[in-house]
Amino acid sequence: MSIVISQPSAAPVIHALRSLGYSAGTAIADLIDNSLDAKATKIILQFKCFGDDGAIIIADNGHGMNEDTLQDAMNIGSKDPRADRQPNELGRFGMGLKTASFSLGKRLSVLTKHNGIYAQRCWDLDHVSKCNEWQLFTAIPDEVRQFMCNIEGDSGTVICIDKLDRFMGAGGLNTIHESSFYAKVRRIHHHLEFVFHSIIENGKVQVILNGNELDPWDPFMVKHPSTLEGETQVLNINGNKIKVKYYVLPHASFLNEMEYKRAGGSRGWRDHQGFYIYRENRLLHYGDWLGMFQKDTSSQLARVRIDLPNAADEDWQVDIKKSAVIPPDNAKTRLETIARFVRKISRDVFYYRTQGSHPSQTFKGSLNTWELSGSDEGQQFVLNRNHPILSEIQKKIDDETSKLLNLYLKFVQLGSPSNITDSPKVEEESIQIVTDAMKELVIQFASTLIKLQVVQNMQQLIDALVTQPAFDGLNRKTLKSIIEEANVSHE
Ligand SMILES: Nc1ncnc2c1ncn2[C@@H]1O[C@H](COP(=O)(O)OP(=O)(O)OP(=O)(O)O)[C@@H](O)[C@H]1O
Ligand SMILES: [Mg+2]
Repeated sequence: MSIVISQPSAAPVIHALRSLGYSAGTAIADLIDNSLDAKATKIILQFKCFGDDGAIIIADNGHGMNEDTLQDAMNIGSKDPRADRQPNELGRFGMGLKTASFSLGKRLSVLTKHNGIYAQRCWDLDHVSKCNEWQLFTAIPDEVRQFMCNIEGDSGTVICIDKLDRFMGAGGLNTIHESSFYAKVRRIHHHLEFVFHSIIENGKVQVILNGNELDPWDPFMVKHPSTLEGETQVLNINGNKIKVKYYVLPHASFLNEMEYKRAGGSRGWRDHQGFYIYRENRLLHYGDWLGMFQKDTSSQLARVRIDLPNAADEDWQVDIKKSAVIPPDNAKTRLETIARFVRKISRDVFYYRTQGSHPSQTFKGSLNTWELSGSDEGQQFVLNRNHPILSEIQKKIDDETSKLLNLYLKFVQLGSPSNITDSPKVEEESIQIVTDAMKELVIQFASTLIKLQVVQNMQQLIDALVTQPAFDGLNRKTLKSIIEEANVSHE
C-alpha cells in the first residue's frame, strides 16, 4: 500500500493548541509540575507587568536538561502518553510545557543547566505563524534573556513566557490594567496554595511567588480538633489502589472568623463540598460530587479526599490539563456509598444533631465510632468495637450485661441508615427460608425484648420485630414461626 506523509500546517495547529481551555491557574500548575518532576526543592515564580504586556518567569533548582533533552522537551508531544511513568511523576502527555505556556502567551523561552552546562531554546509563535513552519530558535532573544536570572549551582531551569496576549486578555480592548494584573496574580497564588498544599506542607519544597512563599491551604482542616476524619479506605479499582478518606469539617460555631473564612476557600463553603481528587499528591479536581449528588447547603461540611496513582491515568481519563477526571463506573458505585455516608454526617453536624459527641473531640484513628469495612465486593459501615470508651465499658460490666450491650450494638450497626439496602418489603405471607444465623438473631432479640418487658404479648413482639431494619425482608408469618419454633415465652 502506498502512503504519503501529511504534514500538519503549523499555524492552525498552534491555534488549536492554544485553545485547550487552560485557566491561568491550571497552566501555571502544569508548569510547576515539571519543576517538581525535575526534583526541584525551590521554585520561584515572577509575574511582571509592563503596561499592556507582561512576562511570567518560573525558575527551579531541579536537575535541568542537557541539549538533547531540551530539544525533545520543546517538541509538541515529547513523550508517549502510554509509557509508564515513575511513581510520583506528574507528567503524562509530553505536552504541558508547550500547551500551558502557549495558553498564556506567544513566546516560550527555556534556559536550562545540567551538570554545569547551559542549553537554551525559544518558541515564538508569531514567527511560526508567519513562516507556517515549526522553526525553533536555538537562542533566547536578548529582550527576554534580560528577565531570566542565571542559574546558580550545577543544574536548574528557568522558563519565561512573554507576549502574554491571552493572559492579559485577548485583543486590545479587553487588555487588563496593572491593578487587575496583580489581582489575577493573587488568585493564582491562592490556587497554587490549594493545588500543591499536600506537596508543600511537608516543607521539602518551597514555592515563592513574587517574593511571597506559598502557604499550604488544607481543605480538610486536619489540624482542627473538631474535624471528623474517617479511616483511609483502599479501593482496588481495575488493578489500581485508590485511597479514599472522608472529612467532615467542624460546625461554624466551632470556628473563629478567620478559620471560617479560610476554610471557605476561594469559592465559598457550598462550592467546596464534594470529592477532592489528587494525583500523586497534587490536586486535580474538586468541588462537586462527580455528578452523583447535587451540592446542598447541609452537605457543605463534607469533603472526601481521593488519591490516585499516575498508573490510573487512563482508567480515570485524566485530561491533558490535569484538571479533570472521569471515574470508571465501578469506582463510582463505591464512591457513592462513601459520599452518601459523609453527606449524612455533614447534615447531622450542620443541623447540630451531634452536639453531644461534637465539642473539641477528635475522631481520629481508633477514635472513629464508625468504620467502613472495605472488602472488594462491597462496603458496610461497622461499629468500631475497639473504641477505647467501649473497651472500658466492657471491662466494667458482667458477662450478661456485656451480651446485652453487644446485641444492642449489633442492632445499631444493622439499623444504620447507611447500611440499609432498599430491599423491598416482602408482602406475601408465606413462611420464608431463613439462615440459622438470622434465626438466632431474631430469637436473641425477641427474648431480650420480652425479658426487659418492652413487649407484653406475641402481637406486640411481632410488631416490634417487623419494624427492625435488621429483619428487613422477613414477613410476620416467618418471624412468628421462628419464635414459636424456639419456644420463646412471654411468662
Ligand atoms: N523545569 C524542568 N526541568 C527539567 N526538565 C523539564 C522541565 N520542564 C520540562 N522538562 C522536560 O521536558 C519534558 C516535556 O515537558 P512537558 O510538560 O511538555 O511534558 P511532560 O511533563 O512529560 O507531560 P505533560 O504533558 O503531562 O506535562 C518533560 O518530560 C521533562 O523531561
Ligand atoms: Mg509537564
